[in-house]
Amino acid sequence: MTEMTESYSSKDEDDDSSDGENAQKLQSTSTGYQNIRLEQQVVSLSAESDDSDDPIPKERRFIENTAKQTEGATNEESDSGGPEEDVAEPITDGNMRIVASHYNELKETGRKERLQSRIVYMRNFNNWLKSQLIAEYLARIKAQQRVGDPMRVLDLCCGKGGDLLKWEKANITHLICTDIAEVSVDQCKKRYEEMQSRADKSKFATKFSSEFFACDATLVRLRERYKDKSLKLNLVSCQFAFHYSFESLTQAECMVRNAAECLQPGGYFIATIPDANEIMRRLRQSPNPRSIGNDIYKIDFVCDTDPPPLFGAKYQFHLEGVVDCPEFLVHFPTLVKLCRKHGLKLERKATFADYYKESLDKGRTLLQRMNGLETVIPNRRGKDPEFQHLQTYFKGGSSKSVGTLSQSEWEATTLYLVCAFRKCKNTWDNEGKPVFEFD
Ligand SMILES: C[S@@+](CC[C@H](N)C(=O)[O-])C[C@H]1O[C@@H](n2cnc3c(N)ncnc32)[C@H](O)[C@@H]1O
Repeated sequence: MTEMTESYSSKDEDDDSSDGENAQKLQSTSTGYQNIRLEQQVVSLSAESDDSDDPIPKERRFIENTAKQTEGATNEESDSGGPEEDVAEPITDGNMRIVASHYNELKETGRKERLQSRIVYMRNFNNWLKSQLIAEYLARIKAQQRVGDPMRVLDLCCGKGGDLLKWEKANITHLICTDIAEVSVDQCKKRYEEMQSRADKSKFATKFSSEFFACDATLVRLRERYKDKSLKLNLVSCQFAFHYSFESLTQAECMVRNAAECLQPGGYFIATIPDANEIMRRLRQSPNPRSIGNDIYKIDFVCDTDPPPLFGAKYQFHLEGVVDCPEFLVHFPTLVKLCRKHGLKLERKATFADYYKESLDKGRTLLQRMNGLETVIPNRRGKDPEFQHLQTYFKGGSSKSVGTLSQSEWEATTLYLVCAFRKCKNTWDNEGKPVFEFD
């Protein structure tokens, strides 16, 4: 528990000196949205045109964010504490049933409704960030492969198939989609079938094989549900979902094993999860010691928070119109240990704010195409409390369009982090247990 206290209360959590300002600076980016009609964006905005009329000098665009990850590397690698010492009893109060029925009952929103949502840009932004992460790791895998090698992907907790297009565009060869919510899996399968029938008619789109099944990935060994149980995966992607498994050690371990066991050496497990340190940092600064939030998101703790337990650190998460169910903090050092036990070596961990900053150069055009930022003219919106950061950013005002997120959306999206683990080679000991080579 000492480890928990230390790692949830590292230096950055107490240091809020420059955090807010830098976060605001980072939030506004010149995307070169130059008063053009929405439908023209794709064609009109190239990387070059961005730069020519850019109201923000390059060096200001990538302002160093001092709100670095709150957790020091030494804490992460610390050997004290961890799953072995903190064996928790599995919790059986039906959280997963609540989660499953929440997602099963979630209505599919139409394009019009989505556009009217207060979090439309944040959702697009998150989707863009996922596509950057997926593209980065697929590229790494492809770089190790020979031409014609298969690319097999597990979309763990696939939801309604929000990432199907990304898989299609990446030319993968086989996709496994699974989720606890049956309704979502059915919708995902339907979307896939529609996509494939479009591909039949197009000479450009590529086809890939697939399998779909609903199950609780924190209880079931997924391998046993695969058509080919000896299948080797190249990528396991678990987007905005892994944290549900941190209800108990047993569930987290089952989920990690599902992510790891069929990955071939050199393959990756990538995920986006809530950043427990950031959540705890905000909680410590909150006037309400059990709750944080703003107009679009709310987190209400229903567990001890001083310190929270390693597993079962439960909170009720509400995100405007999309999520309203129990979630669990992921104690990152514990996740790293569980992953190592299953041959997964941490290769990357970055807050959304940092990953955004890093991906922007390469992903700018796609960010524009996906409407991942709202087009705002600072002089017109500077008085709006949701866009006050623009006043700080453009001290003398500006009448040129910039892309940004509202303060509330930025606060909600920066609750998350990205992480990537690489599957290591192994030999076997004389009891038949794998011995991983963590170079
Ligand atoms: C926020 S949604 C993300 C869906 C999708 N990955 C995406 O990025 O669009 C979280 C998903 O995790 C699924 N989920 C939660 N707990 C799960 C579990 N124990 N086993 C499998 N899926 C689970 C939910 O049903 C839901 O579809």
